[in-house]
Amino acid sequence: MLRWQRANRLIKAAIDNEESDPVRTAKRIDNLPPYLFAEIDRKKEAKQAQGIDVISLGIGDPDMPTPQRIVDAMAKAITVPRNHQYPAYAGSKAYREASAEWVRRRFGVELDPASEVLALIGSKEGIAHLFPAFVDVGEYTLVPGVGYPVYHTGGILVGGLTHWMPMNDSNDWLADFESTPADVLAKAKMMFISYPNNPSSAIAPVEYFDRAIAFARKHDLLLVHDNAYSEIGFDGYTPPSLLERPGAKDVAIELFSCSKAYNMTGWRVAFAAGNAEAIKALGTVKSNIDSGIFTAVQDAAIEAMLGPQDDVVQMSAIYQRRRDLVMDTLGSIGLSAREPKGTIYVWAKIPDGYTSAEYAGLVLDKAGVIVAPGNSYGPDGEGYIRISLATPDDRLVAALQRIKTDL
Ligand SMILES: Cc1ncc(COP(=O)(O)O)c(C=O)c1O
Repeated sequence: MLRWQRANRLIKAAIDNEESDPVRTAKRIDNLPPYLFAEIDRKKEAKQAQGIDVISLGIGDPDMPTPQRIVDAMAKAITVPRNHQYPAYAGSKAYREASAEWVRRRFGVELDPASEVLALIGSKEGIAHLFPAFVDVGEYTLVPGVGYPVYHTGGILVGGLTHWMPMNDSNDWLADFESTPADVLAKAKMMFISYPNNPSSAIAPVEYFDRAIAFARKHDLLLVHDNAYSEIGFDGYTPPSLLERPGAKDVAIELFSCSKAYNMTGWRVAFAAGNAEAIKALGTVKSNIDSGIFTAVQDAAIEAMLGPQDDVVQMSAIYQRRRDLVMDTLGSIGLSAREPKGTIYVWAKIPDGYTSAEYAGLVLDKAGVIVAPGNSYGPDGEGYIRISLATPDDRLVAALQRIKTDL
């Protein structure tokens, strides 16, 4: 080959190379909003880089450690060689039995551990994988007007559509499924509800659960109750399970998690319970994607669920005290909120004249405090911010004081 021919070839290859784009992401990635908590972390780091002592009331990650009895169970389980091998896909027999036993003790509901319980790598994972199990391209999921972001983004990832169920102060933050238009219902497969609710902290009367079950039955929907805050109740309130209600298992599954109940967010351990067909479908998706939860973690979770529950009671008392701290101060900083009976959040209405994002931005810029803008949880969150109680009392008081004086 002549020298000029070779040179031409090299130039052409370089141009081709420049124009080629081997890393072409799927369009569904472009449709995803930035993940809320990753965004909050980014803002926090930027402020900290400026030397500002940022106090985060943004993320719902318990500040208290996992109870010692659970850590001890893990320390023991980690030395067992069998636990070093692949875990069982659906969760170990012992873990599924313990989950069923926990549900029986806590709610008086009987479950078959073999067919009605499935271990999850945190309930987030379960929520996300319900979409490939139940929603085809162009089909709807009924999603609360404010809620855990994955109810919406999980749909985007499979080419599904979201119908936001209206949820606001006038309907006591009980997602209004009954107003869903007929054309949406004709293409809907699944409906999420979650009480005690993140972010609004609302609780649901059991009659609401009954209506949701009847609605799901009438319209052939899988009803998913995300009960991530089942163990955090205030003023004597103990959150119920949807599975306690008649007919629930015909149409519903419920998600329970060790994350908030036992300060185990980092351990990634939860379970789904309820309708056997739905549990099987979710298990089928999962067995093609993940290989279960480290069995030692499952052993620790067994201790969490079946050991003495005094730590759970103490945790609720701490969050209740922090709730009171926030409620006592809110008025003096121009915010208002309903008094939460559960969860680890206060859902506060912001003063007129700001959007949620503007107000959260102001709080960060002027006071160095992070709060979560309500609109990040869905369209009905505009006009609100979420204040997390997962912060030590002194930092919580300092944050509120700063907002009061600096804004
Ligand atoms: C309502 C709700 N569901 C699910 C999750 C995810 O929890 P997990 O740690 O079990 O994945 C959260 C976490 O904050 C939540 O608030």
